[in-house]
Amino acid sequence: MNLLTTALEIVHHLPPHYLERTLREDVRAGLTKPVKTLPPKWFYDQRGSELFEQITQLPEYFPTRTERRILADHAAEMAAASPAETLIELGSGSSRKTPLLLDALKDAGPLRNYVAVDVSDTALTEANGELSRDYPDLALQAVAADFESQLQLLPRDGRRMIAFLGGTIGNLEPEARADFLEQVRELLGQEGGSLLLGTGLVQPPEILIPAYDDPTGVTADFNRNVLRVLNAELEADFDVNAFEHVAVWNGDEEWIEMRLRATRAMHVRLPGAGLEIDFKRGEVLRTEVSAKFRPEGIAAELAAARLTIVGQWTDEDERYAMTLAEPL
Ligand code: SAH
Ligand code: AVI
Repeated sequence: MNLLTTALEIVHHLPPHYLERTLREDVRAGLTKPVKTLPPKWFYDQRGSELFEQITQLPEYFPTRTERRILADHAAEMAAASPAETLIELGSGSSRKTPLLLDALKDAGPLRNYVAVDVSDTALTEANGELSRDYPDLALQAVAADFESQLQLLPRDGRRMIAFLGGTIGNLEPEARADFLEQVRELLGQEGGSLLLGTGLVQPPEILIPAYDDPTGVTADFNRNVLRVLNAELEADFDVNAFEHVAVWNGDEEWIEMRLRATRAMHVRLPGAGLEIDFKRGEVLRTEVSAKFRPEGIAAELAAARLTIVGQWTDEDERYAMTLAEPL
């Protein structure tokens, strides 16, 4: 892969029609299960990415600002522990916190490249535009790819830091997380490099629930956006406003579940997926899990993928952890 590309280029690793095809497959698989589900990656069209940015500004939604605080306080230590020539950020979104890491890595040594990886083209274009103005000396690359299935396409040369911020790993279920961490370990290979992982920590439901069910309804709008995506991409006829947002803490799994509850019985056509489905009044569709972690669980999941912790930083309320890990 040529990293010396012009600042605004988006390298498309998603094959033509990949998104349409996988959306169709995900919808057909998820909406025909006894308990209907959809994977959270479909929230993020332009409107969904904007709504997520609004969520990050909500007083109730602490992960983003807590992670930013930890980076502001400790990015220099992270960079010193693991200097890198290339920073690869998975699920980079708006890349708003990335400058804290880029600055620290530049101070620590040989940083030359930044690779932003996201399924959302709009997020990539906007983020990279801003960074190219602020970091004229860095080779910036925006890669449209799926971090669950396409890590093998990312750069393998030189010392790399793979950042996976925001707690997005919690949006994967345990089995998918284990697969993902295996792939990260494989990508890091023998050349040296690290994974910088942001994770929300287990908190009392009184703190977590408002973060996922804010009084202004931004999270509800974000949640419903997945139905708008299905309406636009699959010519579906969801009555978006007939679904209400629900956020519950699942104490057994230690994750927040976002659901959409049908407020009346509905028959929904999704011609683009060749599907028609029924909702009973009160039936729920699960749209996201957001797992929260305990330090021992983070260590165990990393160890299972042959990664060992070289540093870990938390905020003073211990709501969020950033963990730096390297191949064993
Ligand atoms: N890292 C940023 C953004 C988090 S939002 C932050 O900390 O604020 C989650 C981001 O992951 C979105 O931009 C979404 O488009 C992206 N994403 C979700 N699933 C993905 C997948 N399977 N592959 C690549 N990107 C994905
Ligand atoms: C991107 N991800 C880490 C967010 C989260 O907290 O799980 C998505 C989100 N869902 C509701 N609010 C924010």
